[in-house]
Amino acid sequence: MSTRALKLAVFISGTGSNFKAIHTSLKNNSDVEICCVVSNNPDAIGLEYAKANELNIICQDHKTFESRQAHEQAIINELEKYQPDLIILAGYMRVFTAYFIEHFDTRMINIHPSLLPLYKGLNTHQRVLEDFNKGNQTHHGCSVHWVSAGVDEGRVIAQAQLAIAQEDTADSLRQRVHILEHKLYPIVVALLLQKSETIRYNKSNNIEELLEEDILLFEESQLIAKYDETFEIT
Ligand code: GRF
Repeated sequence: MSTRALKLAVFISGTGSNFKAIHTSLKNNSDVEICCVVSNNPDAIGLEYAKANELNIICQDHKTFESRQAHEQAIINELEKYQPDLIILAGYMRVFTAYFIEHFDTRMINIHPSLLPLYKGLNTHQRVLEDFNKGNQTHHGCSVHWVSAGVDEGRVIAQAQLAIAQEDTADSLRQRVHILEHKLYPIVVALLLQKSETIRYNKSNNIEELLEEDILLFEESQLIAKYDETFEIT
């Protein structure tokens, strides 16, 4: 039996629509709480949502620090107060040092707008579209993965994919992928909640082996069904 709620720290830099999707999916679930929202950008739109929902906020503008490590240390110092069990990166646009990742015992997950290992890095929708137009790509999507020191390189937990349409633009792909993300990320958080005890107490296990080895791959329609089933939406 859980003795307390699992504590999530959600990191954002911009709109925070994934953060909002996760927060919404967790409402009424007393086994988990968002203990704080962290941002490197004081103007992040998602912070407004955090304030409106009376969530704790840590905002450290990276531009005011001399080094990446100094910025990370300032976040670590503030995060200590909340002792998060799991860090959820949701559009956080800073790369972490290995020091930060190890400090949190690699208990960090991220969502990336591509079917990893394809299209790591930025501008994924544009790059996918260019390949589609050359006849080299048919699908696009998003991935939730563990965070490791290499950018977009940690082990993939789950993916959702869509078929690219002839009329798609980079912007329409961004919107279509966002819709997938808002279902996929809450599903993965819900899966991890089933392993709360391990995440909380067993700090020595290999976190990447916590879930099944196979990557969960959802087509658009399967994803909606899985979301409704997970959150008992009828
Ligand atoms: C998402 O597309 C996510 O995959 C990427 O950054 C974007 C964040 O969007 N890592 P939002 O701030 O959650 O709306």
